[in-house]
Amino acid sequence: MADYISPVFYDLLAVNSHIPDVRKKLPPLLTGVHRSILEIGAGTGLITTSVAEWTPAEIFALEPSAAMRAVLLSRLAERPDLLERITVLPHDALSLDLDDPLEAMVMINVMYALEPGYRKRLWPVLAGQLEPGGLLIFTWHDGGPPKPRPMRQLDSRQVGRHTYTVSSEITESDDEGATCRYLYRITQGDKLLSEEELVGHAYRPAWETLREELASAGFVQADAPDGLLAWRRP
Ligand SMILES: C[S@@+](CC[C@H](N)C(=O)[O-])C[C@H]1O[C@@H](n2cnc3c(N)ncnc32)[C@H](O)[C@@H]1O
Repeated sequence: MADYISPVFYDLLAVNSHIPDVRKKLPPLLTGVHRSILEIGAGTGLITTSVAEWTPAEIFALEPSAAMRAVLLSRLAERPDLLERITVLPHDALSLDLDDPLEAMVMINVMYALEPGYRKRLWPVLAGQLEPGGLLIFTWHDGGPPKPRPMRQLDSRQVGRHTYTVSSEITESDDEGATCRYLYRITQGDKLLSEEELVGHAYRPAWETLREELASAGFVQADAPDGLLAWRRP
């Protein structure tokens, strides 16, 4: 898990950032997927439960972070209908070793957490777990890593009397990655109740790099809306 993500703040912020867009763009790509889907980096399950509502497929929700997985399982605990067909895998993506080939894989906002050497080793592992014709879908934005910039507020949510605010700063960046410093604050009026600082690295590979990596793992690009990429195992 990228170490600048706060599991405590995650849902509060994610529901107002990428989640609505992904929920709009992902369903058409999963049309015709009925048997099995792997979600890599399922996090707290915001996309997992949506995928389960869009398709009748068996779902494998892979999430290595115990803190994120706890929220995911908490979300599933009250959905006995989903508990029957969602298996939560507690390991990282490279350790994937399922018995049956998968129809589709979905990886939403996870690539930034994958160190380049790890990412290169991951594509062949994913290709090996997909059935022929199987689909790999993930979020990706062009433009490389963000440039250094000072601390600024990203979002803020009110929870009862308290305000949950996240701010971030990019302290360094190079061709593929950036070092990010995040501040998670809970306040009541002017009073600071808690503050947590998390620092981590985020990777954003260039299109050419990604294209070469996926092509050499045997993937062929398929159509996908802006912000998502889709690749098929021929
Ligand atoms: C920003 S969260 C996204 C969660 C979810 N996909 C969503 O969109 O709400 C990124 C997730 O990727 C997970 N992750 C990081 N490295 C991973 C790896 N090597 N294999 C699988 N998951 C990983 C993190 O633990 C984290 O839960």
